[in-house]
Amino acid sequence: MLLNNLKNSSLNLNIHQIFTDSAKAIISNESCYDFIKTVPDKAVTLIITSPPYNIGKKYEKKTKLQDYYLKQEEIIDQCVRILADNGSLCWQTGNFVENSEIVPLDILLYPIFQKHHLKLRNRIVWQFGHGLHASKRFSGRYETILWFTKTNDYTFNLDPVRVPQKYPQKRHFKGPKKGELSCNPLGKNPSDIWDIPNVKNNHIEKTIHPCQFPIELVERLVLSLTNENDLVFDPFLGVGSSTVAAVKNNRRGMGCEIFDEYYTIALERTILAMSGDLQTRPMNKPIYEPQSLPIAKESYIM
Ligand SMILES: C[S@@+](CC[C@H](N)C(=O)[O-])C[C@H]1O[C@@H](n2cnc3c(N)ncnc32)[C@H](O)[C@@H]1O
Repeated sequence: MLLNNLKNSSLNLNIHQIFTDSAKAIISNESCYDFIKTVPDKAVTLIITSPPYNIGKKYEKKTKLQDYYLKQEEIIDQCVRILADNGSLCWQTGNFVENSEIVPLDILLYPIFQKHHLKLRNRIVWQFGHGLHASKRFSGRYETILWFTKTNDYTFNLDPVRVPQKYPQKRHFKGPKKGELSCNPLGKNPSDIWDIPNVKNNHIEKTIHPCQFPIELVERLVLSLTNENDLVFDPFLGVGSSTVAAVKNNRRGMGCEIFDEYYTIALERTILAMSGDLQTRPMNKPIYEPQSLPIAKESYIM
């Protein structure tokens, strides 16, 4: 779809480019550092983002780690300002890598969140199956999400994000509840280790973006940390995974992307999500397990 057509369809769907209180979605092509200044204090219930990691991807210029820290501090300070008192801020990062030495970005950035007295609720480990094969260290197969709340009075809905129990029919075998189901029939708490496939070439959500969020990862945060109609913001929107996860679940979505190509895809995917036409990997779909290799005869003959 051409950008002009997209912009026309988006207005009909109540998608705007500048901050508008009643918008269903706001998708800006401006730098988040400028856009965020137009957002009123405490307007947003969930901020979920994966910022550039300063590792020289197509969309970023590698800078000194200290300069990167200061730029991150600038945007995080503003994010805290626009976060509602019952809101959550989720900063998803991996490692800065140089000469095969890694700097975990969540550890680097933690003092900024601490400065604002945000409360860390979970350090979620997102593990996935695919990525670069390292030759001088073990291949990296996880990243983290620091989930902070602004106060102790925060939205947290566990039921919509429960995952299937391992033994759903397990029952108490003694005591007053003998014979009754011993686990929650709605499923179990998904814990702080999330096994969700990352978006690589054979993933149904793959676009041209080199590191887009799987939508199911954002959906888990949207469903648990917001209620319907709440506003979800991603300052580094990429191809719109966060706005898609928001509108798909009857929340309002907002984000900024400076790269024109990614911005256009973000707008297109958000429009498709609103009309129910965007294909996404369903939440809780089991992970593909490869068949075990046949054991070579000689390996088990002693
Ligand atoms: C790690 S990617 C995020 C990908 C995103 N989570 C998704 O699912 O597509 C970071 C994105 O931030 C964008 N970006 C970098 N600086 C920006 C800025 N100042 N304002 C808005 N977007 C920016 C980059 O172009 C890139 O697409």
